[in-house]
Amino acid sequence: MEVVIQANTDAATELVARIVAREVQTNPRPVLGLATGRTMESVYARMVQMHRKEGLDFSACRTFNLDEYVGLPGNDGHAYRHYMNHHLVRQVNIALRNTHLPDGTAANLEAECERYEGLIDQAGGITLQLLGIGHSGHIGFNEPLSAFRSRTRVVALAPTTIRQNAPIFGRADKVPRSAITMGVGTILDGRRCVLLATGEDKAEIIARAVEGPLTSMISASALQLHPDCTVVLDEAAAGRLKKSDYYRWIYTSEPKWDWFRKLPPVVIGSGRNTSSLEDCRLEPAP
Ligand code: GLP
Repeated sequence: MEVVIQANTDAATELVARIVAREVQTNPRPVLGLATGRTMESVYARMVQMHRKEGLDFSACRTFNLDEYVGLPGNDGHAYRHYMNHHLVRQVNIALRNTHLPDGTAANLEAECERYEGLIDQAGGITLQLLGIGHSGHIGFNEPLSAFRSRTRVVALAPTTIRQNAPIFGRADKVPRSAITMGVGTILDGRRCVLLATGEDKAEIIARAVEGPLTSMISASALQLHPDCTVVLDEAAAGRLKKSDYYRWIYTSEPKWDWFRKLPPVVIGSGRNTSSLEDCRLEPAP
């Protein structure tokens, strides 16, 4: 695992968007594992901006989302299918048929979970998996006690998660009680994982996931087992890490990050972004 601490939320978002852009540019058959949540909204906004202003081409991409609420049809304003269509799919050149989420309204949910795993396999596996983290320590909706080898399945949402997502639904009792999620094992099968966390409210759970013991009580701690996992944080989310100076030292002395450090600073949403994606090709992909 490598931990990259950026000065602020915009810089952390920018780095994650650039990592995805690089994958889209350099891999002829990118298979993106995508996440939802408020943290990811600005990553997708940045990807859309790169598509519009810098010609980032998504036409060869296939995408698989981590999870979907049980019982919500795709056109429900709270469904993750709706979220993805709104924030990314409709705004870039990716065919809807190449974007996948579990179907939370399937008559046979177990069969749907198997079908979803099969689709990921047929695509050749996920090449880059984006992740957020919930207050319960979940990745996807892998709530506490999720087995590290778990596969796509139906899970009951933890009370912490229901509380965290209540503002989006207006009231806690409107939040669905269950969801389909890729398993921890499914996520760990991705070739590369990138987790983004921003804000002080994530500091405690990030410290436990990154520096704490491996435990199924915090699914994100399983990422310590992944051979190519990058955790990108802003200063606020890094606030409880004990070894942050060491992670900063690794990042600044690691030649593989030269491509990013050489990019001119980007101000997100200002329309002043003049850096070209060509800059990402300065160094061969790590
Ligand atoms: C939901 C998703 C998770 C995501 C989390 C973070 O629970 N199922 O995959 O990591 O939201 O949400 P936010 O970015 O809003 O904190």
